Amino acid sequence: MTDFNRILVTAALPYANGPIHIGHLAGVYIPADIYVRYQRANKRDIKFVCGSDEHGVPITIRAMKEGVSPQQVVDKYHAIIKESMEQMGISFDIYSRTSNKIHHETASDFFRKLYDDGLFEEKETEQYFDEKAKTFLADRYIVGTCPVCANPNAYGDQCERCGSSLSPDQLINPRSVLSDAIPVKRKTRHWYFPLQDYEAWLKEWLLEGHKEWKNNVYGQCKSWLDNGLQSRAMTRDSNWGIKVPVDGAEGKVLYVWFDAPIGYISATKELTGQWKDYWCKPDTKLVHFIGKDNIVFHCIIFPAMLKAHGEFVLPDNVPANEFLNIEGDKVSTSRNWAVWVNDYVKDFPDQQDILRYVLCSNAPETKDNDFTWKDFQDRNNSELVSIFGNFVNRTFVLMHKLCSGKVPPLHNDILDDTDRAIIAEFETTKNKVSDSLENYKFRDALFEVIDLARKGNKYLQEKEPWKKQTGEGMDGQKQIDNCLHICLQLTANLSILINPFLPYTAKKMLHMMKVVEKMLEWENAGKPNLLKTGYSLREPQLLFRKIEDTEVATQVEKLRSGLIKTEASKESSENKTESKVAAPVTKAEIQFDDFAKLDFRVGQILSASKVEKADKLLKLEIDLGFEKRTILSGIAMHFNPEEIINKQVVVVANLAPRKMRGIDSQGMILMAEDGEGKLHFVSPESIINNGSSVS
Ligand code: MF3
Ligand code: ZN
Repeated sequence: MTDFNRILVTAALPYANGPIHIGHLAGVYIPADIYVRYQRANKRDIKFVCGSDEHGVPITIRAMKEGVSPQQVVDKYHAIIKESMEQMGISFDIYSRTSNKIHHETASDFFRKLYDDGLFEEKETEQYFDEKAKTFLADRYIVGTCPVCANPNAYGDQCERCGSSLSPDQLINPRSVLSDAIPVKRKTRHWYFPLQDYEAWLKEWLLEGHKEWKNNVYGQCKSWLDNGLQSRAMTRDSNWGIKVPVDGAEGKVLYVWFDAPIGYISATKELTGQWKDYWCKPDTKLVHFIGKDNIVFHCIIFPAMLKAHGEFVLPDNVPANEFLNIEGDKVSTSRNWAVWVNDYVKDFPDQQDILRYVLCSNAPETKDNDFTWKDFQDRNNSELVSIFGNFVNRTFVLMHKLCSGKVPPLHNDILDDTDRAIIAEFETTKNKVSDSLENYKFRDALFEVIDLARKGNKYLQEKEPWKKQTGEGMDGQKQIDNCLHICLQLTANLSILINPFLPYTAKKMLHMMKVVEKMLEWENAGKPNLLKTGYSLREPQLLFRKIEDTEVATQVEKLRSGLIKTEASKESSENKTESKVAAPVTKAEIQFDDFAKLDFRVGQILSASKVEKADKLLKLEIDLGFEKRTILSGIAMHFNPEEIINKQVVVVANLAPRKMRGIDSQGMILMAEDGEGKLHFVSPESIINNGSSVS
């Protein structure tokens, strides 16, 4: 570790196809930022680079969905993501983007070097082609029925319902996302990187040379390597991306996973003229912070590319995290089951550190973890507020009350074992925190910092300076002095130790102690004499505030109601793996006469509103042409009232009225439920007169 002279930290480039959510922060950006702030405090030569990943299928799909160009998509989300990162205090030295000219050049040169060295295999294969849209289709552009769980909307590379990874050939009834056409196979040429040629080297370098990597990372790599590697196409048929810099490659771009990691190099170039120091000198420690879905790209493919290129350093570590679930369910951006960072910042202004705290102390370091708003509240109220904030606040209040607002002197003659023990903890804690951070154990490190504050509270409680006599007996005042002197030095230590994790809090503490940022340098941690005797300090400022029950309830409600907009709420965790294909006919056979008894009519929704204390029901006013009806329908979990106004629906008009929640429901509307439990209105194909009969 000590033989490195500089550190380059990269954090996965987020796709600029949507805002970032707290899973991104917990998995990647917060640990990376803590590490970097810690190393900066150690006065290490360190750079922290990131940027938006602006190529690839996720971007083009998003553009299609929003009906805008890919460039418009990346411009929009790049700005949003960049702002969220800044607001959360993620202290990149540069946040760049892969649509930059410098990146296009860098990635293009990289490809060209491998090409000129004859390292690619050129192969012709058959790929799916959309004859209507006249374009080759990436796997993501093909949807069809999942052969495993019968989800009718599985993608050509993966079924999002059951999680199976698929190839387009496995889909039943494949169709193009672009045009609905049935895709056909066509020949196309691409450049393949022969990963298998690097297998032996990877086994040596990674499996033998990096046994210290986290188990989850090492294990995944080992299984990839044990299964054997194959060549991988590094180009794609598309017009969004970096043009393949080779003659006769029109309509082809670099594979996004080829270009994106090179983005780390481009960003460093953009940041500093000294970029080669960070990328080419072997005494650089390169660390990639990523989420677990990126492991193979950062531990196998990119290192093999770097090795093939020959001029660059290889990662020293790739501390990937697992995933953070939300309220017991997997994050899904398509279902909008996520806590968006830009929303958080709006809802909790100036409370970045609470989120940083919760996401670090509950980080999915070794296994998937769950974020709940209740836990957010608990950790804040019972740890930040009650332990850390409380200690600092009590210390300041007592110092103002009992020591006239100044750092009291330390009287060595009456120092006792309890005093010496707590002072010794400064250094011990610093060492534990340093050690954990050097080894990417962020939760443990944070725990130690809080534990030091906990010990501070215990010390105060034992010493009870508020009970000491300040009058005649000078010994009383001396004991008060010692206790608060030590508590203040402990506070100064806490500010240094908490700084990498909660930088906003550390700043507030500096202000209260009237000291400059230089004090936060890590070498100062452990010292018992950071604040000068006699120095006058400010009045305390509350470091944290309580999170109320109502705030938690609001967030949970926001999450649940957000879900409705995109998908059914039925897809809960417990029945995720079971098949949800419509059941075959199950009801008893009926005669025509039975059917003829039903009076189906077309009606139009005039208004819709929620029914008090019935979270599933919507109260609908329906125009049947000849009369208006009030109908209660159990669709509140699926639709927002405002989005269904004016919709034409089919109504069972002669159903006997039924009282629900004190309201007469005069009929029923027909709904179709798809394989995912999502409800759809049954509506005439085009607008017709209200009251028209259906049979
Ligand atoms: N955009 C990718 C993702 O979000 C990560 C790219 S990391 C990089 O999963 F190395 F390719 F940049
Ligand atoms: Zn499936």
